[in-house]
Amino acid sequence: MISRRRFLKSTASLLLGSQFLQAFAAGPSLKSFKSDPFKLGVASGSPRPESVVLWTRLAPDPLKGGGLNPEPIKVKWEVARDESFHKIVKKGEATAAPQYAHSVHAEVQGLEPGKEYWYRFFAGDAKSPVGRTKTAPTKDSHNPFRFTFASCQMYEQGYYTAHRHMAQEDLDLVVFLGDYIYEHSWGHNHVRKHEGHEVYTLDQYRNRYACYKSDADLQLCHARFPWIVTWDDHEVDNDYANDLAEDLEANFLLRRAAAYQAFYEHMPLPPSFAPHNADMKIYQAFDFGRMARFHVLDDRQYRDHEVCPKPGRAGSNYINDCAERKDPKRTILGWEQEKWLSKSLKDSHATWDVIAQQTLMAQSKRNGGKFWTDGWDGYPAARRRLLEAVSNRPVADTLVIGGDIHSYAVADLKLDFDKPNSKTVATEVCGTSISSEGPPPEDVNAFLKNNPHIKFASRDYRGYVRVTLNKNKADVSLRAIESEKISDSKIKDLAKFTVQKGRPGAENA
Ligand SMILES: [Fe+2]
Repeated sequence: MISRRRFLKSTASLLLGSQFLQAFAAGPSLKSFKSDPFKLGVASGSPRPESVVLWTRLAPDPLKGGGLNPEPIKVKWEVARDESFHKIVKKGEATAAPQYAHSVHAEVQGLEPGKEYWYRFFAGDAKSPVGRTKTAPTKDSHNPFRFTFASCQMYEQGYYTAHRHMAQEDLDLVVFLGDYIYEHSWGHNHVRKHEGHEVYTLDQYRNRYACYKSDADLQLCHARFPWIVTWDDHEVDNDYANDLAEDLEANFLLRRAAAYQAFYEHMPLPPSFAPHNADMKIYQAFDFGRMARFHVLDDRQYRDHEVCPKPGRAGSNYINDCAERKDPKRTILGWEQEKWLSKSLKDSHATWDVIAQQTLMAQSKRNGGKFWTDGWDGYPAARRRLLEAVSNRPVADTLVIGGDIHSYAVADLKLDFDKPNSKTVATEVCGTSISSEGPPPEDVNAFLKNNPHIKFASRDYRGYVRVTLNKNKADVSLRAIESEKISDSKIKDLAKFTVQKGRPGAENA
């Protein structure tokens, strides 16, 4: 028998996925709220040449479930060509549904390619902050394209100073590669505290997102640029793999379902991305004219379980090697996503293909020649298949971007990492973290010592990476803040690299 709650949930997702609610935007128009319902700010994302997704969530009491009755609320939105809204080009209504924590995901169609827009929301007599966004350029555009990528923003370990600096950049896009929240408390020298303990339930995940999203610098960066997002493990649970938690907890798929739903509710993703039970497909591609195609991956939801774990555990391990590690049947993306990626690469006519994924892809032998099984080193056959798909094209200029390791790393990607002289088939740049603490220095020293294809690595700074894609080259700046523990830290270029078109591998700029 289908439970009432489940029925309501699936009905709501059906309705939200259709045009029904847009045409008959139901629900009372609340006249006033007991306090500002837009405390979590606004965001935009998934930029296409003629559309963009606008996001907000009504939450007058964000850290305590939102503070609204479980009724739908009508929200109006406006899109203008100017910041003062004299030239409004689109208007519409959306329903903030209680089933989705009163979040709004308005997919605005009929926009012009490559243009800046400003947007805002209204609910009753409340007005949201104004956001700025930008559509993707026309299909045949050869304009340079500028983006940043970032990851890992442990709230307790540092301020979001990196986001404040990012908001001052001149960008077409921000890509966030995961660990947007952390499900549990860890690390040293906390500058502030989470709103609660480790999160398991939908209500708890919602409050965790609300805690993170209450940060003014993060809100500023969301309000300045469209974002493309994917997730890593901490949006659910450290080192989880598919349906398995690191500590083998029971009913993990229920927890994953809650976590995925909260992710959807807090990200500028289209309504069609709403999760179904414990599943949520988020891998997808974005074109930015002829300059770039972004292939955005999900390496968590479909991966094979981690090899050779510690006894009684399922999460990551440092291992000398075990036969299972090299099993050609192992996959980190899942076979369907692998097939999709091969096709997406093959069909691309872009000057640059950017593979946006979670973690360091290059082989990274640690001290004593050990492999870390949570990363691509736990799935070497899958990595090889991906890099073959990258290199099997006549023209292949591919940048792989990643996060997770809380360190910068710049690497040559090779079909055979054990042969230092073998051909480089793609260029990798791994970002550091926004605020999460770096690994011990000896880990990063081991990257450099044991892996000649890793040309640069640093764990000392938090920040992000800025990339400008041009017709003939890509310029990469590793942007570093002085300290995540000081909210008004300055920013600098830690290092700069150039990738020449037709010559994979980063060179010092
Ligand atoms: Fe992280």
